[in-house]
Amino acid sequence: MPGAELAALAAELRARAELLDEGDWSAAPLPAAPAAPETPVTLESLAAEVSACRKCPLGATRIKPAFGVGSPKAEVMFIGEGPGYEEDRKGEPFVGKAGQLLDKILAAIGLSRESVYIANVVKCHPMLDPTQPDTRGNDRPPTAEEMAACRGYLEAQIALIRPRALVALGSTAAKCLLATEDGVGRLRGRWHDFSGTPLLVTYHPAALLRDETYKRPVWEDMKALKARLEEK
Ligand code: SF4
Ligand code: URA
Repeated sequence: MPGAELAALAAELRARAELLDEGDWSAAPLPAAPAAPETPVTLESLAAEVSACRKCPLGATRIKPAFGVGSPKAEVMFIGEGPGYEEDRKGEPFVGKAGQLLDKILAAIGLSRESVYIANVVKCHPMLDPTQPDTRGNDRPPTAEEMAACRGYLEAQIALIRPRALVALGSTAAKCLLATEDGVGRLRGRWHDFSGTPLLVTYHPAALLRDETYKRPVWEDMKALKARLEEK
């Protein structure tokens, strides 16, 4: 740069500094270096994390984790207990008998697997006897430790999807989300709150398969859900 131009530039910079009137520039602290850009958490990145997860012992015995299924823009999330035999093989929640019934319950209020989001409180199959992964009916509810280890993934799913309502399917999901020991009979029929999101508790579809008398209360709960989703 020729000398004349340099001098002009220096004069302009001095003029600007005077305009800013910041006094002694030499004492000004250096701005902090910008933080390294963090990769944003997405449902895809979370699912990848879950695929490699060993935060609890279920990670070592599962075949495939069942992360979650449905729309990332779902207005409602259904949350079950944990994957069973079929889910462990397919890597998708609620694909066995209970899942087929859940699909019918959804259809009854005009919803589908694709329009809602379905997940569980643990992503890996809790087995009664983990040495027998090929035996059907080898399922158990997750322990408090397993739920606590996995909970962060569910919380992140809820935070990313931001549904208008949550439905806890069965007492295990209710226990995890509401920190309660109460059963479904005491918890259903009213709205609860999960970190600002309205939450309903209803019977698990597997309980419905065992006991037909749960049909009516589940239907009432689904009507309450539908009415809530239809509110503006
Ligand atoms: Fe990780 Fe959850 Fe699977 Fe445990 S159940 S290994 S915490 S993903
Ligand atoms: N039961 C559950 O709670 N979750 C499933 O994914 C399947 C059955």
